[in-house]
Amino acid sequence: MHDGPVQYVNLHEGKPPSASQVEMTELVLPNDTNLLGNLLGGRLMHWIDIAGAMAASRHSNRVVATVALDSLDFRHPVRMGELVMLKAKLTWTGRTSMEVVVRVYAENLKTGSVILTNKAYVTYVALDDEGNPVPVPPLLPETDEEKKEFIEAEARRSERLKRRNKEV
Ligand SMILES: CC(C)(COP(=O)(O)OP(=O)(O)OC[C@H]1O[C@@H](n2cnc3c(N)ncnc32)[C@H](O)[C@@H]1OP(=O)(O)O)[C@@H](O)C(=O)NCCC(=O)NCCS
Repeated sequence: MHDGPVQYVNLHEGKPPSASQVEMTELVLPNDTNLLGNLLGGRLMHWIDIAGAMAASRHSNRVVATVALDSLDFRHPVRMGELVMLKAKLTWTGRTSMEVVVRVYAENLKTGSVILTNKAYVTYVALDDEGNPVPVPPLLPETDEEKKEFIEAEARRSERLKRRNKEV
């Protein structure tokens, strides 16, 4: 028995999505809202980016840069005083890039109701100390849902790269 840090698995053998998943909770304060008392979209996008980056950094043990955020729909307003819970989990890894799904839930503390308000797919690239892309451990999906997400992520990635090649 030792007290030092525990390495979850050998980096070269890969890691399951559960090893890096992140849960982050924020309380919606007045400074996070518009004049109607609803959460600002930009603030939510910032939290999504942070939660996703933490999961990607945990997986790769690297600093990461955001390279793509898929479309984001705002289905329900989140009100001042509610809790926003963000659950981020890796869905796919390439050589240096990683896709993370971030699910956003709003919890009303008075009623206890929790609703899924947003879902976003964000792509990050792991960087070395000079800011160059660097290989990441492969993702090892375990559950049926994780295996399905991994296959679907390939299609999302090819759409993104098509978009990237058109735009630049
Ligand atoms: C991250 C960065 C250094 C990568 O450089 P690059 O020249 O694009 O490097 P590459 O072409 O080798 O791409 C690296 C990986 O990202 C992927 N990628 C790049 N752009 C992408 C996009 N729009 N969508 C999906 N994946 C993308 C590539 O496919 C590659 O993946 P792989 O190694 O898993 O096959 C560069 O794009 C950059 O600095 N971007 C700006 C990042 C930023 O400022 N973000 C906001 C603040 S964090």
